[in-house]
Amino acid sequence: MPNIEDIIESGLSGSNIFKRLEVLAPEHVPSRLPHREEKIKELTLAFRDLLSNLGLTSIRVVVSGPTGTGKTVTTKTFGNTFKSRLKDRGVKMEYIHLNCHKQRTLYLLTMEIASSLKLPIPVRGLSTQEAFRIIHDYLEKRNIYAIITLDEFDYFVNASSQEDVYFLVRLYDELSSATRRISYIFVMRDEQNISTLDRGIRDHIMRNLIYFNPYTSLELRDILADRVEDAFQPNVVPEETLNFIAELYGSDKGGSGNARLAIETLEMAGKLAEVKNSALVLPEHVKEAFSKINKEASEIVDEISYLELHPLIILKALINLHNRLKTDSIPIGRLEKEYSDICTELGEEPRRHTQIYEYVKRMRLMGILETRQSGRGMRGRTTLISLTVPVTPEFETLITKKMRMRLDNREEPV
Ligand SMILES: Nc1ncnc2c1ncn2[C@@H]1O[C@H](COP(=O)(O)OP(=O)(O)O)[C@@H](O)[C@H]1O
Ligand SMILES: [Mg+2]
Repeated sequence: MPNIEDIIESGLSGSNIFKRLEVLAPEHVPSRLPHREEKIKELTLAFRDLLSNLGLTSIRVVVSGPTGTGKTVTTKTFGNTFKSRLKDRGVKMEYIHLNCHKQRTLYLLTMEIASSLKLPIPVRGLSTQEAFRIIHDYLEKRNIYAIITLDEFDYFVNASSQEDVYFLVRLYDELSSATRRISYIFVMRDEQNISTLDRGIRDHIMRNLIYFNPYTSLELRDILADRVEDAFQPNVVPEETLNFIAELYGSDKGGSGNARLAIETLEMAGKLAEVKNSALVLPEHVKEAFSKINKEASEIVDEISYLELHPLIILKALINLHNRLKTDSIPIGRLEKEYSDICTELGEEPRRHTQIYEYVKRMRLMGILETRQSGRGMRGRTTLISLTVPVTPEFETLITKKMRMRLDNREEPV
């Protein structure tokens, strides 16, 4: 048994596993982006016109793809590098990356643009229109162009009114400005989320679509190998461990293809190896890390076993809509319709609105669902419902199986 002083001393004296832990943090921007070179090229070609038609054109590109496919890191890297390439050509260009999940309103987004440009704008008393004028005049006076990335744009579309989306996207009609200075990249989890918008705005946004596929295990392997080299001490992560993580998440092996989760798992496995005084990060550490990371999800799955038939049907309806609409947030009206369709199929009397609301509330308290109010859109305010767990094939099977069980023996839940 080592004494306590020795334990603390060895913990303090630096890591045998990690070299630079910060390389594994989600906000770290790596110097290489394996398997996204083609996307950088596509972005460059989409924005090439900007240079040949300087001031005459405004470019709009939609980047879409599931979580963890590198949309954020790739657009950021593209934007910043493009900016410096243009600088070499004597063109002043700013790259502004905004997150619509953090800045949820048009006003806050506008303020964020101003602050990225280091533009002092009075905090109070300005309308969004006035603030945008100031931003535009500033760009005009200094002959600056800007690419603005609206990351997590799905949130903005869901939470804002049509007018706000319209304002942001059709800026130039509002300003009737001669020189076109602002171009956009809209980053979305699913481009179908703009299907609720007016045709006119949609066409305006959807000129170029660049899709990011979920990563395969071989692709994840290359991404992880880079991180291993930068973050870990030499030779502490064996090939086998790397492949093991890559295969847990690779889309070709039934995984989500999510690089963020793969990197998070690598980090946690490294920490577990360190705690256990292991000289190597082994597949067994990966297994433990994987189950820790997915623990929350599995606890919720336990809760689901106790649900009665009708809440299960509600979950089934949510899954159907999630698959069909490719969106996480479902308006309650739509959910009710899908729910009652399934009830009809099953020969079940659908519960009434108030009862459905009760079930939703209960499942929210159980942590299975999240609810929030939509912004004021064309159809007024409504409650949006989303699942807190990812809709995996296993999750779907579980719900269907539980539903069948309840239907078969009509047993009261235990
Ligand atoms: N091709 C890649 N090469 C290196 N790291 C990547 C790559 N793709 C994604 N990552 C990393 O995976 C994590 C998730 O990527 P991110 O850009 O946030 O995905 P998204 O925005 O699509 O959800 C980040 O830590 C990012 O640096
Ligand atoms: Mg992102």
